[in-house]
Amino acid sequence: MLTHEQVMAALSHVQDPELGRDLVALNMIRDLKIKEDSIAFTLVLTIAACPLRHHMAEDARKQLLKLPGIQHVHIEFGAMTSEERKTTLGSVKPQLPKLNAMNRIGRVLSVMSGKGGVGKSSVTAMLAVELARRGEKVGILDADITGASMPKIFGLPGGGLRGGEQGMLPAITSLGIRVVSSNLMLMEEDAAVAWRGPMIAGMIQKFWDDVLWGKLDTLLIDLPPGTSDATITVMQSLPVKGVFLVTTPQQLSGLVVRKAANLLQRLDIPILGVIENMSYFRCPDTDKNHAIFGPSHAHEIAEHCNTSVVTRLPIDPQVTELCDQGRVEEVHLPEMEALASHLQVERESPGK
Ligand SMILES: Nc1ncnc2c1ncn2[C@@H]1O[C@H](COP(=O)(O)OP(=O)(O)O)[C@@H](O)[C@H]1O
Ligand SMILES: [Mg+2]
Repeated sequence: MLTHEQVMAALSHVQDPELGRDLVALNMIRDLKIKEDSIAFTLVLTIAACPLRHHMAEDARKQLLKLPGIQHVHIEFGAMTSEERKTTLGSVKPQLPKLNAMNRIGRVLSVMSGKGGVGKSSVTAMLAVELARRGEKVGILDADITGASMPKIFGLPGGGLRGGEQGMLPAITSLGIRVVSSNLMLMEEDAAVAWRGPMIAGMIQKFWDDVLWGKLDTLLIDLPPGTSDATITVMQSLPVKGVFLVTTPQQLSGLVVRKAANLLQRLDIPILGVIENMSYFRCPDTDKNHAIFGPSHAHEIAEHCNTSVVTRLPIDPQVTELCDQGRVEEVHLPEMEALASHLQVERESPGK
């Protein structure tokens, strides 16, 4: 009969694709029972609703059925307590890359979305602008390495990053926002670069520890859509304090947003709330709001993600025009001003 060790060895070939470690290292295998031709165990998930549970169970089943004489595999699901989850995550979190000794970074906030084109980068940029207008020292780390759009939104020329003795210097916008983006390193905005996963992760880490950010009150991180490798790298290796989820009314099911929310929950990173973008159009003639893209689902989505709606931003032609022309620093959106004020108060009196 197979031994406990042989079975665990087989299970150590099964990975949790989001956490990048195997099920044994993550202490997810419990109550292992081995009989003549069958194996049963409980797969203890980081969160009960883990979207990867069937995927991991199938991989485990396949591995175990390869063992000599095994005909049946029975897997039950369990969930870690929040204490267990913290311990497990602590053991898989890579050491935080060393921040350049000259840097002082106050808080790191990130903006995430289920899919692309919802205005995530525009929202990140507009939020940075409003915080800068309030006197904060703001940086933007563009972690959307393959779809970098910050230079375009701020009208920054390619080749805007210079290397100094002590590190890479960010590009600086008119309002003094420090921007680091892969596009700034290329001479031509559209230059095609073939990026592989590890290169993306390496670049994001470099943006964190090789850049001379100086003293920042807030560092905002723009991400590619969804739960790609870049997002997982950011969430696992940078000290992200909280994340805004950007949606639009067209997002009917909210399924992709929930996937993003699940990842954050698994990694114990707080969701600061849902920002519904392109929520309505305010007719300048009548001052009435029109739901151009259909009724809002922001509250439903927020509820599913155990969070609230922090703001609903209108469809505003000045946003499209100014963002697309590199003039985001001229945008004025009252809803964004309110959000920035709220964030500023929170920074100045944390815990309130
Ligand atoms: N509230 C808004 N009103 C009008 N246009 C918007 C608004 N938000 C974003 N846009 C436009 O939508 C497009 C996609 O925005 P972008 O920020 O690049 O999305 P993402 O980063 O989610 O892919 C851009 O052309 C942008 O100018
Ligand atoms: Mg974007």
